[in-house]
Amino acid sequence: MTLPKRVKIVDVGPRDGLQNERQRVSTAVKVELVERLIDSGLPAVEVTAFVSPRWVPQMADNAEVLRTVLAGRYAGRDVSLPVLTPNLQGFDAAVAAGAQEVAIFAAASESFSQKNINCSIAESLKRFAPVVDAASALDIKVRGYVSCAVACPYEGAVDPAHSAAVARQLYEMGCYEVSLGDTIGTGTPASVQRLLAACAAVVPIEHLAGHFHDTYGMAIANIHASMQMGMAVFDSSIAGLGGCPYAPGASGNVATEDLLYLLQGLSIDTGVVMDKLLDASAFIAGHLSRRPLSKVWHALRGQCAAVQ
Ligand code: HMG
Ligand code: MG
Repeated sequence: MTLPKRVKIVDVGPRDGLQNERQRVSTAVKVELVERLIDSGLPAVEVTAFVSPRWVPQMADNAEVLRTVLAGRYAGRDVSLPVLTPNLQGFDAAVAAGAQEVAIFAAASESFSQKNINCSIAESLKRFAPVVDAASALDIKVRGYVSCAVACPYEGAVDPAHSAAVARQLYEMGCYEVSLGDTIGTGTPASVQRLLAACAAVVPIEHLAGHFHDTYGMAIANIHASMQMGMAVFDSSIAGLGGCPYAPGASGNVATEDLLYLLQGLSIDTGVVMDKLLDASAFIAGHLSRRPLSKVWHALRGQCAAVQ
């Protein structure tokens, strides 16, 4: 199969990237990160999560971050700014802050579902149905996630049929896009292609996205393998930040800079400007007092750029 001509990159750095950070990142820095990502030309930036602040303290300023971004420099810009909503309580708070797109997140493994959102997979889907209905009534787009689509930190390898069944339910419920999460980054091109074959049999591939954590350094290979199967939407995280507090040992998503380098090398259009992305990467890494994890950042900026 030929590779896609255009790929949509969804930067999940402000949410997935920061949720695992122990040090408190200020609201102003979060807002500036989102603005820098928007300015780089990204078509979608996941801004924050309307989850319990007891479960994920770093996301406690969710409403302020979203409100400030929506009223800020890029107000009215044609960019998707989804936020995570685990239940109606989170959805209502997101809507009150101005959300125009939300993301619901299920899992393909029971243990992870319990650890992450404190309920079974079936209960979570029951909980998401009113969220999707309420969103539809307000013309708010809903994205879906299937975590542990490849493997679970508590249960090991996950049967692609299980992941496909959850992806199908999210799609049939009304998610316009379902992102398949390799939460712990154990996937390889072979296991990812098996997953995609199962999922694409029940959800059209143009409504599926890949969300690859890079724990084993396989994310770029997995994205290339996914594009060979027709996938054209990928989540990534600026500077390679991230991980899930409820997936021990998992590292961040593939770095957005590295994904962009791959796509540029394949002449695949994204609309994203590398220099601005590298600036955004240095910006957030500097605020976290470390260097970006991105290999491309190191190659292009690492020699001369000290941590700010
Ligand atoms: P729970 O304790 O079962 O909730 O948590 P509850 O309904 O029993 O309520 C308990 C308390 O939480 C109450 O407060 C509620 O008001 C409050 P209290 O009366 O005790 O003071 N509460 C909330 N507060 C704020 N926002 C809300 C909310 N809901 C209830 N939305 C819950 C259930 C889902 C809330 C919790 O488990 C939670 O917040 N989990 C989120 C965990 C999380 O954010 N994980 C990381 C994101 S997922 C991820 O990273 C994977 C992904 O990247 C894809 C991949 O890589 O695979 C997406
Ligand atoms: Mg993730």
